[in-house]
Amino acid sequence: MSDLVIEMCVCGLLPRHKPQMKTEWDVESAIATYNVDGWGRGYFTINGSGNVEARPLQENGGCIDLLEVVNEARNRGLGFPLVIRLQDLLRHRVESINRAFQTAMSEFGYRSEYRGVFPIKVNQLREVIEEIVDAGQQFHFGLEAGSKPELVAALAMHKDPESLIICNGYKDPAFIRIALLGRKLGKSVIIVIEKLEELEQTIRTSKEVGVEPDIGIRVRLDSKGSGKWSPSGGENAKFGLDTTNLIAASQMLKEAGLTHCLKLVHFHVGSQVPDISTIRRAVREAARYYAKLAKLGYELGYLDVGGGLGVDYDGSRSDFDSSTNYSLQEYANDVVWNIMDVCDSEGVAHPAIVSEGGRAIVAHHSVLVMEAFSSIEKTAPKLKVEAAEKDHKLVGDILDVKQRLKRGNRIESLHDSQQIKEESQQMFDLGLLDLESKAKIETVYWQLAQQIVNMHRGLRFVPEEVKQLEISLGDQYICNFSIFQSLLDHWALGQLFPIMPIHRLTTPPDRNGMIVDITCDSDGKISKFIDLQDVKETLPLHRISPGEMYYIGVFMVGAYQDIMGDLHNLFGRVTEVHVFLDPDEESGWYIEEVIEGSTIGEVLAMTQWDKVELMRLLKSDVDAAIKSDRLKPNDAMKLLADYERLLQEYTYLSFNGAKLPPPGNWLPLS
Ligand SMILES: Cc1ncc(COP(=O)(O)O)c(C=O)c1O
Repeated sequence: MSDLVIEMCVCGLLPRHKPQMKTEWDVESAIATYNVDGWGRGYFTINGSGNVEARPLQENGGCIDLLEVVNEARNRGLGFPLVIRLQDLLRHRVESINRAFQTAMSEFGYRSEYRGVFPIKVNQLREVIEEIVDAGQQFHFGLEAGSKPELVAALAMHKDPESLIICNGYKDPAFIRIALLGRKLGKSVIIVIEKLEELEQTIRTSKEVGVEPDIGIRVRLDSKGSGKWSPSGGENAKFGLDTTNLIAASQMLKEAGLTHCLKLVHFHVGSQVPDISTIRRAVREAARYYAKLAKLGYELGYLDVGGGLGVDYDGSRSDFDSSTNYSLQEYANDVVWNIMDVCDSEGVAHPAIVSEGGRAIVAHHSVLVMEAFSSIEKTAPKLKVEAAEKDHKLVGDILDVKQRLKRGNRIESLHDSQQIKEESQQMFDLGLLDLESKAKIETVYWQLAQQIVNMHRGLRFVPEEVKQLEISLGDQYICNFSIFQSLLDHWALGQLFPIMPIHRLTTPPDRNGMIVDITCDSDGKISKFIDLQDVKETLPLHRISPGEMYYIGVFMVGAYQDIMGDLHNLFGRVTEVHVFLDPDEESGWYIEEVIEGSTIGEVLAMTQWDKVELMRLLKSDVDAAIKSDRLKPNDAMKLLADYERLLQEYTYLSFNGAKLPPPGNWLPLS
């Protein structure tokens, strides 16, 4: 958005770089403001109408105007928030990952193959798994299950005997039995041993069931991950066998006569690894374990590098937690080359490489669209405040500061006004300041603050206190969603997601704001946004037009967010639409499936409330009210019908057809 222009200093000698706002706003400015090219990776851009456009196949396919999808959803009477799933994008990611490994293997002359798996935990939705399995068929792409329910789903979904099902996570006898059942059905199920007792259990259960297991061992690497999920790796990791346990496991397998069943070495250094050197180090260490086991006589065959393949949420291409300093191809190259290098140096055959990167497959495919239906603004620039005779003296004082404000005394004026505001709060606490005077002082204070911030715009040096002032001047955009349901990783871990309006981008955003949700929790807000250098506390946004809905999209929410969300305030699952590209359609796309969000009745049932019982209880109150003449029978029936209807409705707010009032500060000050 800002161009660097070189201009001469007032003193006339030294050239000075001064960031200058582009005077003309266009779509390119919008793309730069929200760094769409950085995180969008060719999957998202802004079209000439100023709407965000998805390109699920990047430059190789059609595009989908997200506002058109939103309007279609609205026409169908669907509620918001709304998740838009771009099914073709899922396919594109599966193909990209497989192709990246194939490219690396053929470039380096790797003498084995890639057998990736999708970890179901990252997104368990049936339609998502179906799409991935279908797209992955040509590559023998498999599934990873970390629990009994995930394994139950994986076994039913898995059809290709050449693709793998990897079983991770702690296991009980039932888990092991169902995995062995999969083997009986001709599926390639590998049970990954997370702790020594599990091996004992697996050996025992396999004897009971009469099926030899395919076994993998998760090794506890010394290499620790980096980023927010780094505790998954290193010597204090909760899963995996250290070297002593590995030797014990080897002994157990020998005693059971099952050494030929050990097929795979596995490790996982954590999700969203931002720095490629972490991956490189871990891969080399695991490859060394693989090679040493192979030299002990184990046939093995697979080396599983786990998850960790990150995505660039902020588009900075750096080793910041929300980014990655590597591309998909670099990741594949490093995994393949380092395994090859270690195996060659040990004189061991190249293993088939398994990877379990799920985030990199599903993150981009879904977008959460929410309605910003109101905003809270601190400033009321047009409100003219005058001191009346009955006003407290401090009103006159702050008006005086405002009148005297000029460039030369802007910081002094800031300090004076801050002191007056502070004093007025103390007077109010002591009961010595009336409400109207307090309102006037605060109004003038925020007007002054805005003027002072404006005076610093475009300056090379902006004092920290002015930067903070600008943040505190930010609006609050109230959005119809729950952070606890839809963006849990942001709330719990500070994970950043790209967020921006999905329309109106032919005009420049004229406000800065944070986003607050509709839960009653003060934590229910987003006040950390992606930035190329740092983390921003406000987001450039447009003022909400009276009577119009303003749609804000949260991008790259396809990994983990759906399932980890909780029922805080009983806001349930979000409505979603599954969108496919179709060149035969006029729009170029169609909605194949709608999954309605939870109804009020459904979320109440999850917390043990029975709809029939609720109706019965309310009816008895209504009957009593009719009997005592507090309610007419006709009104009573309407009330009961309303209550019953509500139980069938979406849990979130509904503005369908509602005219929104203009936002702002309407204090009648004179
Ligand atoms: C064993 C295992 N494999 C794969 C994954 C998925 O990794 P990612 O989030 O990097 O896709 C995880 C998640 O942390 C995991 O624990």
